[in-house]
Amino acid sequence: EAPNEENLRSPVCCIMGHVDAGKTKLLDCIQGTNVQESEAGGITQQIGATFIPTDNIRDRTKELKADAKLNVPGLLVIDTPGHESFVNLRTRGSDLCDIAILVVDIMHGLEPQTIESLNLLKMRNTQFIVALNKVDKLYSWKVSPNAPIVNSIKLQSEDVKSQFDTRVRDVIFQFKEQGLNTELYYKNKNMDETFSIVPTSATTGEGIPDLLLLLVQWAQKTMVEKLTYHDEVQCTVLEVKVSKGHGTTIDVVLVNGVLHEKDQIVVCGLQGPIVTNIKALLTPHPMKKYRLKGKYMQHKEIKAAMSIKISAPDLDHAVTGTSIYVVSPNEDLEHVKEKAKEP
Ligand code: GTP
Ligand code: NA
Ligand code: MG
Repeated sequence: EAPNEENLRSPVCCIMGHVDAGKTKLLDCIQGTNVQESEAGGITQQIGATFIPTDNIRDRTKELKADAKLNVPGLLVIDTPGHESFVNLRTRGSDLCDIAILVVDIMHGLEPQTIESLNLLKMRNTQFIVALNKVDKLYSWKVSPNAPIVNSIKLQSEDVKSQFDTRVRDVIFQFKEQGLNTELYYKNKNMDETFSIVPTSATTGEGIPDLLLLLVQWAQKTMVEKLTYHDEVQCTVLEVKVSKGHGTTIDVVLVNGVLHEKDQIVVCGLQGPIVTNIKALLTPHPMKKYRLKGKYMQHKEIKAAMSIKISAPDLDHAVTGTSIYVVSPNEDLEHVKEKAKEP
C-alpha cells in the first residue's frame, strides 16, 4: 500500500534507560495504573506493553493547544528493564520499536545503562526523545500537577530555574561526549539533527503532555511510510508464559496486519516450527478491578499495532524474540514452516 496519512497504525515506542530512572513510573503516570509499586523490589523483570489511545492523548494535551491532527490510532509503548542483567530484554524491546523514549534521571545524568540503551538505538538508527525525569526532585520545586513543562518552569523561583539550567547543561554535555546533539524540545529548531529533551516528572505528571504530543506528532510527521498500515502480519513473541486458565500462552506485539481467532499460525519452537491454531486473542481487561484479578478481554480479531496474549495449544517450546506467521488458506504450510526455521 502507498504511504497514506489516513491509514496509519499506532507507532511502537520503546521506553529505555538506566535502572530506576522512572520508566515504569512514567508509564503508570500516563495510564493511571500502578505497576511500579507491585514489582518485586521495584525492579522491572520482563517486557510489558501499554496501549495509549489517541483520544486519551488528545485529552491530556489540550493545554498545549496543539491544533495539529493526530492521525494514528494511539501509541503502543513497550517497557523494558534497566537492570544491567536484562540486556537481552532491552535488545528485544529496541529491536521492535519505531521510536523510543530514553529516560534520564535529572539528578544522575547519563548512567551505564543509559549509554548502553543509547548504543542499541544508534545501532538500529532508531529516533528517540529524551525524557529528563524527576524534575520535581530539584530543591524547592513548585508542583503544577500534569502541567505542560514550560508553564511549570515559569512558576519556579530563580534558584530552581538555575538548578534546572545547570543540570540540563550537564546532560547536554554528557550526550555530546557520546557524539549526540541534544536540546530542550522547545528550543530545538532542527529535530532531524538534534535530539529533543522533554523534562518530566512521573510523580507529578509535569511534562507528560509535552512528551506524548511530541512523540505522536514527530512519528506521524517523519514516519508516514513506515507507519502506513498493511495487511501482511508482522508479529513478534515477547514472552512465553503460563497464564491462569489458559495454559502456556505467548505475549506478542502485532506490529502490522490482523490476527483472528482460529487463525492457523506457525511459531518458532526450540524443537522446530510449531503449527497451531489461535484459541483466544486476549488483552488486559480495561477495568482495573478485573485487571488486578488477571482477567482478560477476548477478541474475535485484533488489528495492529497492539500487544496481545495468544492462547493456543502446544506453545510450551515457543522461542521469545522470534516472528510468528499466519498460514493463509491458499498458502503452502511447508513453505511457511521453512520461514519459521530462520532465526
Ligand atoms: P527499572 O525498570 O527497574 O529499570 O526502573 P524504572 O526505570 O522503571 O524506574 P521506576 O519506575 O521503577 O522508578 C524508580 C523509583 O523512582 C521509584 O521509587 C519511583 O517512585 C521513583 N520515581 C520515578 N519517577 C519519578 C519522578 O519523576 N519523581 C520522583 N520524585 N520519583 C520518581
Ligand atoms: Na525500578
Ligand atoms: Mg521499570
